[in-house]
Amino acid sequence: MEKNKLKKLITKIFIKHKLSKKNALICAEALINAELVGAPSHGLSRLKMYCDRINKKVINPKPKIKIKKISNSITHIDANNSIGFVAASIGINKAIKSAKKTGIGLVGIKNSGHYGLSGYYAEQAVKKNLIAFIFTNAPPAIAPHGAIKSLFGTNPICFGSPTNTKIPFILDTSVSMINRGKIRVAARSGEKIPEGVALDKFGNPTTDSKKALSGVQLPIAGFRGSGLAWMIDILSGVFTGGNHGGKVRDPFDDFTGPQKIGHLFIVMKSNLFVKDFNLRIKENIKRIKKLPKAKGVKEILYPGQNKFKRYKINLKKNINISKNVKKDIEQLIS
Ligand SMILES: NC(=O)c1ccc[n+]([C@@H]2O[C@H](COP(=O)([O-])OP(=O)(O)OC[C@H]3O[C@@H](n4cnc5c(N)ncnc54)[C@H](O)[C@@H]3O)[C@@H](O)[C@H]2O)c1
Repeated sequence: MEKNKLKKLITKIFIKHKLSKKNALICAEALINAELVGAPSHGLSRLKMYCDRINKKVINPKPKIKIKKISNSITHIDANNSIGFVAASIGINKAIKSAKKTGIGLVGIKNSGHYGLSGYYAEQAVKKNLIAFIFTNAPPAIAPHGAIKSLFGTNPICFGSPTNTKIPFILDTSVSMINRGKIRVAARSGEKIPEGVALDKFGNPTTDSKKALSGVQLPIAGFRGSGLAWMIDILSGVFTGGNHGGKVRDPFDDFTGPQKIGHLFIVMKSNLFVKDFNLRIKENIKRIKKLPKAKGVKEILYPGQNKFKRYKINLKKNINISKNVKKDIEQLIS
């Protein structure tokens, strides 16, 4: 479907689910961006879930978001169980504004919901020539190292930096072998998942997506990945006042209450310590790209390059809508 037509349709669906026009547009744009960057697991496949959560009153469509200024650099936001996109949009804008004014912007958000792709928010800061760290916690998916029960989310780590080119450096990665959204999409369409990414509930390796969802996902790099997931749970949940320690509810399966997710945004001016950051980052990337390449590798890519390429290509095309999503949209609009 043509992007703008789709954006209008999704905005209309969110308005029908009681969001203000402004907030509905924020959500529609974030979902369409996920499709454009080639992350459909965080795009329209989640639309029905967000609407179901609003209908079940575990997302507040008309939140009274409290923004508390702690200093010129630091803001604490209570999202009042808003849809994550709206809270995160306010958060990143605050962090950018503070960073421009003081050099650094730190925003902690509590009582929020799933906000989609961390990179979407990092990109907004990088476009203003700022460096960004973005953290969020997520529902239990990974067993902490040494445990047999999942507790940590796939808790993405996201770091963005200007590169002095049009293509930003955006490292945006789950700390699980694959992100949970991909497993959900596979489960919905009856597909298998790769080997080595999940165990079933009995602790046996599985490629069955449904069994993986009821079992545990494996962290990247063993105990190191488990440690990173824990760090993000502390930064996003313990530090901000959000849910933590396995208390974030699964947005698809648990409608007994709001998720109360925490997010943390840290945004910095890139020239805080050196005047020539732009030259230095260019030189840094050049040195790495010039290295001898492994067999079959045409170009050493920096994180974010592949996504940018996909975005540019997809921008010229209509957005492909799967059968399941088409069914969801028809139901939600009727
Ligand atoms: N909101 C949530 O609760 C939540 C939870 C988990 C993940 N997510 C989101 O899901 C998205 C996807 O996560 P993912 O773990 O599947 O990411 P991924 O595995 O697709 O990519 C991870 C990183 O590796 C980089 N990369 C990929 N191929 C590369 C290459 N050949 N050379 C150099 N760099 C390369 C990418 O640019 C990206 O920065 C992220 O945007 C993340 O924020 C959200």
